[in-house]
Amino acid sequence: MDHLETGRLWNENAEAWTVMARAGYDIYRDCLNTPAFMAMLPEIEGLRGLDLGCGEGHNTRLLARRGAVMTGLDIAGRFLQYAHEAELAEPLGVRYIQGSGLTLPFPAGAFDFITAFMSLMDMPATPRVFAEIYRALKPGGFLQFSITHPCSDTPIRRKVKDDRGQDVALELGGYFHRLEGQVEAWTFGSAPQELRSRFDPFHVPRYTHTLSDWLNLLVETGFVIERVGEPRPDEAALKRCPQVADAGVWPYFLHVRVRKPDVGDCH
Ligand SMILES: C[S@@+](CC[C@H](N)C(=O)[O-])C[C@H]1O[C@@H](n2cnc3c(N)ncnc32)[C@H](O)[C@@H]1O
Repeated sequence: MDHLETGRLWNENAEAWTVMARAGYDIYRDCLNTPAFMAMLPEIEGLRGLDLGCGEGHNTRLLARRGAVMTGLDIAGRFLQYAHEAELAEPLGVRYIQGSGLTLPFPAGAFDFITAFMSLMDMPATPRVFAEIYRALKPGGFLQFSITHPCSDTPIRRKVKDDRGQDVALELGGYFHRLEGQVEAWTFGSAPQELRSRFDPFHVPRYTHTLSDWLNLLVETGFVIERVGEPRPDEAALKRCPQVADAGVWPYFLHVRVRKPDVGDCH
């Protein structure tokens, strides 16, 4: 499967994803993943940012509200329609562009920073995507991204519960087996059945790497690793969203910030 075919599947997912996420059913994003990502982000006020794989623009808008001059790019036109509508309803100066992470339609050095929330593991040809991001960043600029945690998002995974039904472990396997576009079908588990039944499940092509492959690919591209995060819910998050308690037992997400060296940096 190539990036255009992947994009077509995402286009089909866009309506259900947007309706359910905007209704508050992407609870791992809202309660855990995005707050941790934003807490790890450096100051971005006044900087030119690209949000790669922006979807319907939820996180792009959060970045714009922090004062960044944002561009959102996605391969799926339907997601961008929803993003445009949100921009019209609440103008934040975000421009949305349809394109692919494999061929970013921007000149070299166009951005001070690039974010990719849960989108890089949805694109084929990761070395090429990293090379494109590197090119589009100015020297000294940074990339910060989130992905499903490669150590727990494996082809075989089963929750292990104790006698009281509490999640206590994850059985996993197939860690070294690379997925190259195999399609998984799923939906937001917390959405009520009545809402879920209005839509087909999402069809998501998966492109996996081991943890060391992700980090080595970044280093081989020329990036310097600056910060790594594995968000887990604190007490306040658990109180608000008890459903994410399992994310305190095994890691769901991996956050990485890397920097393109500045011209004057020593090597
Ligand atoms: C899991 S969704 C995440 C959306 C958004 N970042 C969020 O956090 O809500 C992955 C996104 O990556 C986009 N995508 C997949 N392949 C892409 C590619 N080659 N170039 C740009 N975007 C892509 C999909 O269309 C989808 O919007």
